[in-house]
Amino acid sequence: MKLFVFIGLSAVFCNAAEWQDRRFPDDFLFGAATAAYQIEGGWNADDKGENIWDRLTHTNPGFIADRSNGDIAADTYTNYRTDVEMMRQLGLDAYRFSVSWSRILPDGLSNKVSSAGLAFYNNYIDEMVKYNITPMVTLYHWDLPQKIQDLGGFMNPLFHEWFEDYARIVFENFGDRVKHWITFNEPREICYEGYGSDTKAPVLNRTDIGTYYCAKNLVIAHAKAYYAYVNDFKPKQGGVCGITISVNWFGPLDDTADDLLAAKIKRQVEWGLYAEPIFSENGGFPTELSEIVAKKSAEQGYKKSRIPEFTEEERKLVQGSSDFFGVNHYSATLVSATKHKQLYPVPSLLDDAGVGIYRPPEWPESASSWLAMAPKSMYNALTHLKNKYNNPTIYITENGWSETPHDGNYIDDGRVRYFRAALNDALDSLEAGVDLRGYMAWSLMDNFEWNQGYLERLGIYEVNFESESRERRPRKSAFIYKQIIKTRVIDPNYEPESYHMSIDEGH
Ligand code: BGC
Repeated sequence: MKLFVFIGLSAVFCNAAEWQDRRFPDDFLFGAATAAYQIEGGWNADDKGENIWDRLTHTNPGFIADRSNGDIAADTYTNYRTDVEMMRQLGLDAYRFSVSWSRILPDGLSNKVSSAGLAFYNNYIDEMVKYNITPMVTLYHWDLPQKIQDLGGFMNPLFHEWFEDYARIVFENFGDRVKHWITFNEPREICYEGYGSDTKAPVLNRTDIGTYYCAKNLVIAHAKAYYAYVNDFKPKQGGVCGITISVNWFGPLDDTADDLLAAKIKRQVEWGLYAEPIFSENGGFPTELSEIVAKKSAEQGYKKSRIPEFTEEERKLVQGSSDFFGVNHYSATLVSATKHKQLYPVPSLLDDAGVGIYRPPEWPESASSWLAMAPKSMYNALTHLKNKYNNPTIYITENGWSETPHDGNYIDDGRVRYFRAALNDALDSLEAGVDLRGYMAWSLMDNFEWNQGYLERLGIYEVNFESESRERRPRKSAFIYKQIIKTRVIDPNYEPESYHMSIDEGH
């Protein structure tokens, strides 16, 4: 017992002595992230075109837990100056947001460019740049123009042409000030949730081939936009272009060869499908997964595999087409070859994977069923990427914690604990040699949390969705984050002196 107390105390003292010495580099970009449909509102302002979330929420309100939508959301379309003021209060180095394709191109195609759409983003970007906040822009965060979906969306092999046209218009108009580009946010959520199952717009639910064909068309569209930037804009504008993939950690449940392989397959299913064609040495889809799907497809009577192949030209185009790896990281899951298996539709991606998943009950849970606080999950994910893909430049482009609108309110200690642990993982990763350049907290403010509407809140600023002005107010996590940004260290004991948020000099 005595020995235990002694070890415990010395651990506390060691950590206490250490935290001041564990600094984030001065040029490390601390930021926060949002996405157009989740905050902007103005769904039909000026000549904006309809997107797939407008269509889904308007025609099937019951799809969303509280029957809400993003018609007004946090009304950033009107409140963008307030958003930038919040960034200045926090002392953010960077801000990641997305451009709404149908706000720029109401018909989805390049014939008609909305001057009101361009003006909105020009003003938003100008306001950030005025205060030295680096804009990091995502071209696509799930809000596909409905007119493109009417043509099949990501299932249409011509998709890359429409996306490249859109990307060029965005680079051309904003690239003088924007130097960090992200083509797609979370291919898994776009392809598996939107096309390969029935969880997100456009709810195509083609469990057989939806995910795989979408994945191929998406990475090709990404590569086309990437090379459009590299060849025609980068020489003058000098920025970088990458992609953001959701990389949660999947480790083995037991330390057995079977579970290690099961975890590997699960990682391929969850993110390797999108990362491997771009970041691996050989390109193309992950080998183990392709073999499994080919075998199952034959057994299921398909004349060819449900997972498409890349032509040599496509493989070469996509391989290496990214200046950095954007990582959205939230949680972890343990994977078993034999235990905790569930029934999945046949055929489907998850049936193809054929593994069981498990989350230990002791991992603290958030308000979201999928989001628990798993020990060392970000560290495990980042060091794995470093080793697997030859030490790519990485930005954490999302990381955050959800609470219900009633939990804790402004004193969001659960979120504070989560951010501190994640940022300590980021420091450990830097120490392990990961080329990590920045961290964007999700989210600057409460927003439309997709299927959960406004029932799950991830903002470090609360938004009052009952008030017409969509009033914003900082939570405790905002004060803690501000202190970390300012000092570049994580003081485990820091408590805000007051809950008044002001803009410090220099911002
Ligand atoms: C998405 C965000 C979302 C967040 C929390 C990420 O998968 O990119 O749009 O709000 O997770 O669910």
